[in-house]
Amino acid sequence: MHSLEPLFNPKSVAIVGASHHEGKIGNIVVRNIIASGYKGKVYLINPKGGEILGLPVYKSIDDIPEVDLSIIVVPAKIAVELAEKVAMKSKYIIVITSGFSEVGNIDGERKLVENAKKHGARILGPNVFGIFSAKAPINATFGPAEIKKGNIGVVSQSGALGIAMIGKAAEDNLGLSSIVSIGNKADLSEVEILSYLFQDKLTKVIFMYMEGLENGREFMEIVKKKPEEKKIIALKAGRSKAGARAVASHTGSLAGSDEIFDAAFRQAGIIRAYSLEDAFNWVATIASSPPPKGKNVVIITNGGGLGVVAADACEKYGLKLYDDIEMLKKTFEDVMPEFGSYKNPIDLTGQAGAREYELALKRAFEDENIHAILALYCERGDAELEALMNTLIKVHKEYKDKKPALYALFGGEGTSRIVAEMKKNRIPAFGEVEDAVSSLHALYKAYEKREEEKIEDVEMDEAGIEKIISNAINEGRNRLLSHEAKEILRLAGLDVPPFRLARNIDEAVKYAKEIGYPVAMKVVSEDILHKTDVGGVVLNIDNEEEAIDAYELIMKNSRMHVPKARIEGVEISKMLPKGTETIIGSTTDASFGKVLMFGLGGIYVEVLKDVSFRIAPVSKKEAERMVREIDSYPILAGIRGEKRKDIKAIIESIYRIGILVDKFEEIAELDINPLIVYEKGAKVVDARILIKVEK
Ligand code: COA
Repeated sequence: MHSLEPLFNPKSVAIVGASHHEGKIGNIVVRNIIASGYKGKVYLINPKGGEILGLPVYKSIDDIPEVDLSIIVVPAKIAVELAEKVAMKSKYIIVITSGFSEVGNIDGERKLVENAKKHGARILGPNVFGIFSAKAPINATFGPAEIKKGNIGVVSQSGALGIAMIGKAAEDNLGLSSIVSIGNKADLSEVEILSYLFQDKLTKVIFMYMEGLENGREFMEIVKKKPEEKKIIALKAGRSKAGARAVASHTGSLAGSDEIFDAAFRQAGIIRAYSLEDAFNWVATIASSPPPKGKNVVIITNGGGLGVVAADACEKYGLKLYDDIEMLKKTFEDVMPEFGSYKNPIDLTGQAGAREYELALKRAFEDENIHAILALYCERGDAELEALMNTLIKVHKEYKDKKPALYALFGGEGTSRIVAEMKKNRIPAFGEVEDAVSSLHALYKAYEKREEEKIEDVEMDEAGIEKIISNAINEGRNRLLSHEAKEILRLAGLDVPPFRLARNIDEAVKYAKEIGYPVAMKVVSEDILHKTDVGGVVLNIDNEEEAIDAYELIMKNSRMHVPKARIEGVEISKMLPKGTETIIGSTTDASFGKVLMFGLGGIYVEVLKDVSFRIAPVSKKEAERMVREIDSYPILAGIRGEKRKDIKAIIESIYRIGILVDKFEEIAELDINPLIVYEKGAKVVDARILIKVEK
């Protein structure tokens, strides 16, 4: 039995602050619990005693036996005072009361949780609207009394939105398995709630409304355990930018919390919606449709124009229109007028009415080569809409378990009424073609196969890496010198071309010869951040004479621009041939911890910000998705006669960086900029690593 069973399926509940006054929250909760047909024991607590809605009232929580769940609906100050007593009697406590951390009362919230925890009780809230659970059934919210039962679980950080969702669900006749408001998340968070919903037999689709997460890592851990058959749609509000943060790396400056959320959702197989409307449409479609068995979509329409709009939308969302004309002809031959078109979209033409739609839909449902149906209808002035509506509903109900079928009816009042009626019958019907297509896309995404992807450990010289890091920490440095950063990457197994730190002119000449001309020379100093700007970099050094000149020039320039700079020497490295410049980075996100970034270098990262993110570490498959996800991917894949670049080498580099930053907590930020990619191989040219130094 799941540990949250007493919260979702309590055998007994107490309402602390049950109110005698109609309209007060403490009265509505009692009314809703009674109206929901709750079968367990209900204890009402109010010092005034008496009776509320026909139930006896206890003057103190001391007077009742232990319960699974208590609901607190007294003002904040009293809630804190009562928490300990209530906790002694309850396994779970829902604190509906507002006035805690959301208004700065952090102390009150801390005390509330502390008091409850003394006796092992767990808290949902504070600042929540309660819980509805179809399993009990119990409606312990102060929202609408009537909530339809179904297979959708809702987890909402916002209470008001959650209540509005109940209303919207009722309007669209959506059935809920549960609705939980998590409010300030002082104790229980979405992580525990998800773990319950994952094993809850009633729940098929989970809709989450999120504003922020403190425990991103735990969240990722739990969603990784999501059973295949459960689907999650998330709406995340608050698109904050990272720009305001002072960051010293490219990756850090591009990693806004919204980008990281996006990456986390992708990685976890959560479908992200950007509007409430989309979220609702998608949830309703997934909740009421069977899984598609293949990719072939057929569009049936009575208007060519509408068909084209739908076909365009399908292309935009990457849905495949079934295009075997011979087979389509066979399927729809006896339905089509002579002048109709067999090319998908199947155009039944303007004269099509209920009979034609019935036949065409039945054919589409029965043809095993067709895996999903988009049926469109454009309102005609003289049409018999009543007959059409009845037909669509009848045929859909008969075949609905065979394959997904979505409907878009475009027109005036008449079609709006059909859409509403179809929704009442839990049929995915829409007034806009785009909504139907985006919902079908969400359905396909929900059933995308996700193989289990293992992250296997790779060999790296951990002791060597640790030594470099601790050396810097001991010296109180948080910025590794260029050669130290490169050495770490070399020890982590990346391809770093030969490089040496020369501390004087003789060493510079000696090492340049050893490495082999042409070489590059860069100043090494923790006080010089932008080496090129101070004239601290010389490239394409071809011989000893040039090496001496370069060394002297770099020293002179550096001393002139940054007179007090502590200069360690110069780094000599092999000059590399031209290739495609990419960037791999990592930074530390406040919620999700270590994250990874990949993109193409130069303008692609600086101007276009064409990069992808993931939570570290990543599997090789996930690293591959990161690479393919950027818009400039075709440059790597090879376009216009250019040869394909070594994508495997990039994947291997990302994979190793993921493992490196995961293993070494101290690495706060890392940029490999650039990693030059060739037809064979990917080489680290420059690297920057920031480490966390405890002050
Ligand atoms: N034990 C039990 N009941 C007590 C009590 C105690 N120690 N002390 C007082 N009560 C009773 C009151 O007498 C009252 O009952 P009555 O109406 O029969 O007299 C009841 O508890 C409620 O107390 P009251 O002081 O009237 O508070 P309220 O109803 O005005 O407000 C809250 C209480 C919790 C609703 C309010 O503080 C609040 O937080 N509102 C916002 C809730 C919200 O929006 N939550 C987030 C949603 S997303």
